Amino acid sequence: MELPVGVLAIYGALGLWSGLLAYSIRRKAFGAFLGFGILLLLYLNLRYFLEGAPAGIAFFIGIYDFLNNFGLSEGETAGGMASCVDNACTVWGDRFSQHSSWGVAFYDRFANGPQRRTNLLYGHIAFNSIAFVLMHLQLLRPGTGERASRHKLIGRATFGAITFGTICAMLLAAEHGPVTEYGGIMSTLGFASMSLCVYGCAVMAVVAIRRGDVAGHNRWNIRFVGSMWGAFWIFRVMLFVLDPLLRSWEAVALQLCIWLSAPLGIALAEFVRRRPARSEGFVASSGNRTQSVVA
Ligand code: HEM
Repeated sequence: MELPVGVLAIYGALGLWSGLLAYSIRRKAFGAFLGFGILLLLYLNLRYFLEGAPAGIAFFIGIYDFLNNFGLSEGETAGGMASCVDNACTVWGDRFSQHSSWGVAFYDRFANGPQRRTNLLYGHIAFNSIAFVLMHLQLLRPGTGERASRHKLIGRATFGAITFGTICAMLLAAEHGPVTEYGGIMSTLGFASMSLCVYGCAVMAVVAIRRGDVAGHNRWNIRFVGSMWGAFWIFRVMLFVLDPLLRSWEAVALQLCIWLSAPLGIALAEFVRRRPARSEGFVASSGNRTQSVVA
């Protein structure tokens, strides 16, 4: 059986990234850590457009399959795991016949669902990835002096992208009621709370600058960046750890990630913002961290 080289490369990249995090904490300089995270995000998300949604999802599930199956013997399963037809929902082929049940449902929703749903997923991934990249550009390039008008333009583009990305996400989440593998209605509500965290911070940043409150604008933008890192990276890393630990209970790990990832991202951003000594390296490596991101 062929090994999924791409997934193994992701494990290598995650290992390297953890090393980079330890190094960044020691040096108090997070530029390289953040840059690596952005590149890895683009690598994962671009796959959806290059290979199509079902293949992108099978790759995503493949990342979780290895640990989720760890310690299970042939033919054994767990309460939160399920099988999919011909193991098409993973890139591991027949090596693993059990997958997280949210993964099986995720694959089925897009491999066998209406095109409209897939288009919403593409819209969500594209616009949120654009917003993710642009918000870092804003951090790197302060909105003062000559840069003011470009900063405004990129801020508006970021706000537009996160608006479309979040609308697509909520249209997808509105359909989760019957998807018990995600947690049903709790999934819809959880994604709504995630949207509130992310979009709420973006809106507050815009409201602040419209009032001329630059300090408030910067504060809310830092929270917005934290919420975006939470919604993407904290979510996926948390799931990587919790999914195998909680595999006996359907949807529990996923629900914890849905509800907690964005608030944790905001809390982390607040922690960095309130500890000037700790955040110095971030300022040095990414321009001025107190610069605005949206509008
Ligand atoms: C406002 C916060 C967010 C919400 C509410 C949200 C919601 C969702 C939903 C509902 C799905 C599809 C699940 C399904 O219907 O089967 C999804 C998948 C996805 N989302 Fe988000 N999301 C958010 C933030 C982000 C961010 C910031 C990014 C990237 C920058 C992102 C990238 C993705 C990707 C790539 C997938 C497919 C799964 C994967 O490969 O990771 N999302 N999201």
